[in-house]
Amino acid sequence: MMKIDQQLENYILAHTIGEDPVLRRLYRETHLRLVNGRMCSGHLQGSLLTFFSKMISPQRILEIGTYTGYSAICLAKGLPVGGILHTIEINDELEEFAAGYFAETGLQDRIIQHIGDATDILPQLSEQFELAFLDADKRQYLMHYELILPKITTGGLVIADNTLWGGKIVGKIAQNDEQTIAILAFNDFVKNDPRVEATILPVRDGMTLIRKK
Ligand SMILES: C[S@@+](CC[C@H](N)C(=O)[O-])C[C@H]1O[C@@H](n2cnc3c(N)ncnc32)[C@H](O)[C@@H]1O
Repeated sequence: MMKIDQQLENYILAHTIGEDPVLRRLYRETHLRLVNGRMCSGHLQGSLLTFFSKMISPQRILEIGTYTGYSAICLAKGLPVGGILHTIEINDELEEFAAGYFAETGLQDRIIQHIGDATDILPQLSEQFELAFLDADKRQYLMHYELILPKITTGGLVIADNTLWGGKIVGKIAQNDEQTIAILAFNDFVKNDPRVEATILPVRDGMTLIRKK
């Protein structure tokens, strides 16, 4: 959630499963080397992603928006033997960075990196996924959601990140604020979509849990 004070956050983290040292280094290097380091999931959200993944134990996971690979690693930790995670990233400059960390965690054989626009890559994926993480361009959330939903198994889970968008979704919205407008449209659409049931977790920037009926 956006307004948890530092003391409370420290307490939560102190009582959450410890962060993998490789992930801690990844997080640090992301912040040192990249301008948008805050996009990286981080310990609390990452531990939740691992938790969900371990609960589902999915054979196939799909992620849109790899960035530096933090969330991909967290999700891949829940893969059973033979399980695979597909992750899509449009920025080819991030490929090596993420691949290096996938190798360090020993998950390189279970993570398939796709470089390109998710809109082009998603139709090429013929598999069904039990778990998906939606975390790319907020203006394209609805389009990505429509592309992935037919690929989700019945009872499968889609997690959409940043759905509280720093609290902007309940503030006054500038007409040119395309991202907030898109998140609002996405949240309304999901709420009224008869194919799914959803709930918003007020963790970090908001995570919507969407279960396909
Ligand atoms: C918020 S970051 C992802 C963070 C990462 N999932 C994590 O939690 O550590 C969003 C990423 O989506 C990528 N992206 C944006 N639009 C995309 C698209 N159309 N297809 C694939 N990737 C896209 C961006 O380049 C960026 O790296």
